[in-house]
Amino acid sequence: MKHDCKDLGLAPTGKDRILWADDRMPVLRSIRERFGKEKPLAGIRLAACLHVTTETANLARALKSGGAEVTLCASNPLSTQDDVAASLIADFQIPVFAINGEDNDTYYKHIHAVLDMNPQITMDDGADLVSTVHTSREDVLDQVFGGTEETTTGVIRLRSMQKEGVLKYPVIAVNDAQTKHLFDNRYGTGQSTIDGILRATNILLSGSKVVVAGYGWCGRGVAMRARGMGANVIILEVDPVKALEAAMDGFNVMPVADAAEVGDVFVTLTGNIAVLRQEHFEKMKDGAVVANSGHFNVELDIEALDKIAAKKKVVRAHVEQYTLPSGKRINVLGEGRLINLAAAEGHPASVMDMSFANQALAAEYLVGHHGSLKKEVIRMPERIDQEIAALKLGTMGLKIDTLTDQQKRYLASWDQGT
Ligand code: ADE
Repeated sequence: MKHDCKDLGLAPTGKDRILWADDRMPVLRSIRERFGKEKPLAGIRLAACLHVTTETANLARALKSGGAEVTLCASNPLSTQDDVAASLIADFQIPVFAINGEDNDTYYKHIHAVLDMNPQITMDDGADLVSTVHTSREDVLDQVFGGTEETTTGVIRLRSMQKEGVLKYPVIAVNDAQTKHLFDNRYGTGQSTIDGILRATNILLSGSKVVVAGYGWCGRGVAMRARGMGANVIILEVDPVKALEAAMDGFNVMPVADAAEVGDVFVTLTGNIAVLRQEHFEKMKDGAVVANSGHFNVELDIEALDKIAAKKKVVRAHVEQYTLPSGKRINVLGEGRLINLAAAEGHPASVMDMSFANQALAAEYLVGHHGSLKKEVIRMPERIDQEIAALKLGTMGLKIDTLTDQQKRYLASWDQGT
């Protein structure tokens, strides 16, 4: 079995941690058990480009249990958990091509390695597999009949492809499932981003000014959790409706130029490029902490910071300190890559449980609808969303009510007023 990981000797720790996460992923586990009996993915070659974490390992196990031949590479050069990669190879016979800290060339070499297995399904977190297939690996297009996409940024890229008429196979937008973005993006990113910042810096959030760029579901999560820890939270937004929501949720709202002068900690989660730029770095206070939790490392213009800095030094793991000619120091976390995975372990297993249940069921849906889906970005069927939510509630020991017949009739009627 071909593979490329840091050190197979790390497998025992990886296995323990994978099983720890498994205990917190009951919905995905129930799918794995059903897949084991029904084999809905029998013989399907599936290439996955995801963060190589304990949670992803359990998704790969579920897919394999369904009969798929799974090959995995990383969706970010800094997010791979090397012990997990080792265990997937050694203990679960799942080929992995991923090494934490790999350079750009190796990152793409690994993407090509998973495409070399001639996948029929691609599973992406950020659309790097889909875009590589469409730009330089059209040789595999004959075989691929569908894909799935995990994240907001990836879905935006795919919609651009669809709009330009270049998308050559259907891709399910897992991100858009309610049981994905309402939980993973909000509570997962909220907690794990704070976790990453704190592990990297050990700063006190209480009483500090935390500037959150972007008030989508991820930004909301971070803002909510930072406030919960006693920070004064400032929101940066370009969308007036979201900015208004932030204001009415009780946050300070202001333009980036004003926030740059007062913030202690800055986190970007916009999905856009160059959100914090030279003119903002120049205005920041000495000791400002700057991090990104958006998918790609483009939200902080680190190149500009590099140009204006007199020197830079790694002062702690995951913290690079840039000193400006004025003597002011700006601390950049995790090279501007998504901080929750670079300095912490990503979202907790119990929220990835729902995200990856969606991924597994999306793969099953693609197989069940082979040939009948348009070459477009496809919504997750609502039925699957409801099923996952119901299963999750059950595993949390929560029961809910159902509509009475009278209530059903009332909701279906239009002639009953006051
Ligand atoms: N994205 C965010 N957190 C993650 C995790 N724990 N595993 C895989 N992908 C993630």
